[in-house]
Amino acid sequence: MDKLTVTGGRRLEGQLRVHGSKNAVLPVIAATVLNGGKNVIRNCPNIKDVYSSIEILRYLGCEAELKDNVLTVDSTQMTGDTIAEELMRKMRSSIIFMGAILSRCGKAKISMPGGCEIGLRPIDLHMRALKQMGVKISESHGYIHCSADKLSAEEIHLEFPSVGATENIMLASVFVKGSTIITNAAREPEIVDLQDCLNAMGARVSGAGGSVIRIDGVEKLHDVQYTVMPDRIVAGTYLVCAAITKGSVIVDGVRPDHIEAMLSVLREMGSSVYVSTNSVVCIPGKTIKPADYIRTMPYPGFPTDIQAPFMALASVAQGTTIFAENIFESRYKHVQELLRMGADIKTDGRVAVVRGVNKLTGANVAAGDLRGGAALVAAALAAEGVSEIGNVEYIDRGYENIEKNLSLLGAKIKRVKS
Ligand code: EPZ
Repeated sequence: MDKLTVTGGRRLEGQLRVHGSKNAVLPVIAATVLNGGKNVIRNCPNIKDVYSSIEILRYLGCEAELKDNVLTVDSTQMTGDTIAEELMRKMRSSIIFMGAILSRCGKAKISMPGGCEIGLRPIDLHMRALKQMGVKISESHGYIHCSADKLSAEEIHLEFPSVGATENIMLASVFVKGSTIITNAAREPEIVDLQDCLNAMGARVSGAGGSVIRIDGVEKLHDVQYTVMPDRIVAGTYLVCAAITKGSVIVDGVRPDHIEAMLSVLREMGSSVYVSTNSVVCIPGKTIKPADYIRTMPYPGFPTDIQAPFMALASVAQGTTIFAENIFESRYKHVQELLRMGADIKTDGRVAVVRGVNKLTGANVAAGDLRGGAALVAAALAAEGVSEIGNVEYIDRGYENIEKNLSLLGAKIKRVKS
């Protein structure tokens, strides 16, 4: 497993462009099986979760190539309707393929996705919605078998605005005669991107970004060339890396309207933040102040995915910040590693109390999940001395070339291949 070594204490300065969104491109990749044609997805990030999705596409009989951030997918010859266990285990969010495979093949077989580093990750909301649409679902030997002779257009209420369940229903209903309505739908920008991609293929989806999404079934979809949105969590992570090192950084290619909740907390914590159409400038204040209370919420609330990086920033604030992680039940794996670096953090269930310390010290730490790993990188950039961060493949799942991008901003960071 690769490691990163980071020598802390250097201010980040400079400009970088943020890559395409992991959480937008994954459902868009699933959508490329729908039309049985040739699709081109641009601004596709070079990250491990995309490589895993390409493996799934190939396992299903599609052709898929990623070159220079352009993914081409030919789903004409798709033959499979099953996602093998080892592929599901590589990436839990492969569940997002279920709706698309059902739409294309009328049946789907996937292995139970199981939990992951941040929680149990149940799929009951996905299952309940598909059953309501007429999908027959059985489970045996660790696999979920779905089949549907005919899917019906229903009004589906989500008891929680699940991102994945919203996307699965959208993908499962594009060919369903009539109007499928999702109420209490997730409002994340990635849902809007999926809507825009599906409509570019000839689907009729409306309402994404709001709590009610309508999908009017169509007969077929055509080839698409689509450019996915920038990654709002990666953008926020680099802004935190600037703030924690008291450096000034310009992040280009970001949609400022996607990251308003994060920018508001960055300002509360002492940074001056200026936005233009597609870039954000973060200039440090004299001190890093605590945030009063950071509660993760569904969009447009404060994103759970940026909680860990902001906890690294709060670890060196002049005061106490309280966190409440309301989305996932075990998303504090980075706390024990931050403690090794001298942070003062107490957790109790979903609450974490972070008392800022004057400085963190470099230590040997290990990523326990994707965003927790990014938090350790941010902390190491500010820490006194050298840190070694293990399990870097977690970070590689969602951050393209993190060491290259941070080096461009002046960080002393390198990858040690294992
Ligand atoms: C998506 O995960 C993202 N992943 C996550 O990003 C993100 O944290 C999450 O949405 C919330 O914004 C992708 O888009 C690939 P959910 P997803 O369904 O769809 C519970 C990252 O770091 N739930 O909105 O799995 C669930 O346990 C990743 O980039 C059910 O109970 O999230 C969680 O507590 C991590 N039953 C909450 O809802 C279900 O059937 C939110 O889950 C589904 C979800």
